Amino acid sequence: MQELGKLEDLPLEYREALTERNLVPLWPSMRSVLPPHVPTRDTSVINWDYESLRPLLMQAGDLTPMEKAERRVLILANPGHGLDNIQATPSIYLGMQLILPNETAPNHRHTPNAVRVIVEGEGAYTTVDGEPCKMERGDLILTPSGKWHEHHHEGDGPIVWLDVLDLPLMYRLNSSWAIEGELQTAKAKRDKSYSDYSAAGVVPNVNMQRGSTDTPMMRYPWSKTRACLVEMANDYAEGLLSTRYVNPETGRSLFPSIGFGALMLRPGETVQLPKRTTPVVFHIIEGAGSMTVEGHPSSAGEPLVFVEKDTLAAPGYTDITLSNASGSEPLFIMTADEEPLHQYLGIF
Ligand SMILES: [Fe+2]
Repeated sequence: MQELGKLEDLPLEYREALTERNLVPLWPSMRSVLPPHVPTRDTSVINWDYESLRPLLMQAGDLTPMEKAERRVLILANPGHGLDNIQATPSIYLGMQLILPNETAPNHRHTPNAVRVIVEGEGAYTTVDGEPCKMERGDLILTPSGKWHEHHHEGDGPIVWLDVLDLPLMYRLNSSWAIEGELQTAKAKRDKSYSDYSAAGVVPNVNMQRGSTDTPMMRYPWSKTRACLVEMANDYAEGLLSTRYVNPETGRSLFPSIGFGALMLRPGETVQLPKRTTPVVFHIIEGAGSMTVEGHPSSAGEPLVFVEKDTLAAPGYTDITLSNASGSEPLFIMTADEEPLHQYLGIF
């Protein structure tokens, strides 16, 4: 590829005249904004291990009362994107949120789409547009764009969940904003949610106010996802055990921005994931193992070990290999990626 002219090649007087008129020559940055064959990928390969993160999150519980935090969260910032940029990947924000017993994270709604993956603790629930969603380990609780949501905790110990939002995307589109509201009145009993009906393949016709892109399910219990993967493993002795979370009415991704999925690795299994354009986030639900990423400067191709409750990120256009460290137990992993966005843009 031919080398192009540099900024320094231009006379200073000319460059100053351009700056004065808010003009910039393209050719000096042409190769960096349109690199050959593979895009610039800022997302670094990383594991935010829960063991070292947890004490700092608990300390936040002592240092900052809920009134001063509203949402008590430590952002999992990917150093490849810079610690100030709320990015785990270009479009995905990750945060570990802590709620202590009897605390309530007040009602609000906002433009970014959000999902919580419950990491530890019992007795909490999130009310989404009047629907109380029980929060158990591994459950996916949705708060799509514009939905009122508040979090309550009536259990004994701390509750922690992983927030997954398209906040970086919304923020950079200059479209991120929120409204605060009065606490909601729950429309159903607290110990169940409408989403429980989905096991039968039917969805409740209870909220006719829903928009056309809304999903009828706000809670995806881990027990059902796990059972599905185990069933697949019983049926297939080999092949990647992978599921996607979809809106049951349309079969489409839960959000237009972020795609969610779950993987199971059989005991002792090593799998290479299909090479894809999108970066991906992994949250380890059950088990332990390692991830090897090849094709990115942030990783020397050395295995990065992980255990339950760890959260990892890997850039797109790489070869990702996952290994289950156990020869007797399966490994379960939840994934979040930018596939729906890449599909929409025609670059997937
Ligand atoms: Fe929120």
